[in-house]
Amino acid sequence: MLSSQTQAVTIVRDPRETWEAVSILRASGATIGFVPTMGALHRGHLSLVEASLAECEHTVVSVFVNPTQFGPTEDLDKYPRDLERDAAMVRAVGDVRVFAPSVAAMYPDGFATTVRVGQEAAVLEGAARPGHFDGVATVVLKLLQIVPATHAYFGRKDYQQSLVVERMVRDLNVPTLVRVCPIVREADGLAMSSRNAYLSRENRERAAVLWRALQLAEALHTEGEADAETLRAAMAALIDAEGGVETEYIALLADGTVEPVERVEGPTVVAVAARVGTTRLIDNHTIG
Ligand code: PAJ
Repeated sequence: MLSSQTQAVTIVRDPRETWEAVSILRASGATIGFVPTMGALHRGHLSLVEASLAECEHTVVSVFVNPTQFGPTEDLDKYPRDLERDAAMVRAVGDVRVFAPSVAAMYPDGFATTVRVGQEAAVLEGAARPGHFDGVATVVLKLLQIVPATHAYFGRKDYQQSLVVERMVRDLNVPTLVRVCPIVREADGLAMSSRNAYLSRENRERAAVLWRALQLAEALHTEGEADAETLRAAMAALIDAEGGVETEYIALLADGTVEPVERVEGPTVVAVAARVGTTRLIDNHTIG
């Protein structure tokens, strides 16, 4: 048996063993919440665990750095991995099972079947990271096969990812309810991310400009500015003035879609991607 027990946290590495345990719970009619992660957990992840614990009788957290969603020049090798620390963090929140498979168990030799996501994944993050969302959808579907949960929890931080997952679950009849939870931020507003650990002290301070830019868009809109181009330009100027932060895109999208809007006339997601040093960060905020 490849499982070890540390107080309230059970870490299971074997997909089959995980499937058997969770299937029995599901067949008994229990609610099971699932929180997929790539580890390097922070309070953003834990907020999803807490939402699951509040809503479901059982909670499973997966920790798996999924190679198929990283591009060839991305940070797969340096992505932080510390399963003991992650297990201790979820243990502090509540009674949770951790599923932490190996790459070989998830993608054995001969693996050849993938999910291909639709056009809404071709823009923004999908354009910047070709193949990324196919990798995300494939691993999330695999994880939901192994962990047949009634509920699955995702963060609004990765807005487009949540849309891709909701679409995949609908299109492929996955019998799981998708919940999307609010963004958790640091004291200075920087959205929590495992990748924030890459930032030097100086760049960490600079990175907070993204939140200030999102707040600026909200403030200008509250004062009556509805033109998307004007809001975008104001944000870009603020980010440029900070220095050391290179904007990749600023997009204003009708909430729940990746459709750009020309005017803010209803709930609108302002999404931003930027490079701070070599670290790529994304964030978003809903206005209107
Ligand atoms: P990861 O980046 O580890 O994020 C796991 C989940 O935590 C995602 O749903 C993400 O949106 C959410 N999350 C991250 N930072 C957050 C924050 N500051 N506030 C709220 N939620 C936050 O996203 C992935 O992993 C992977 O793509 C995965 C879905 C696990 C598939 O491999």
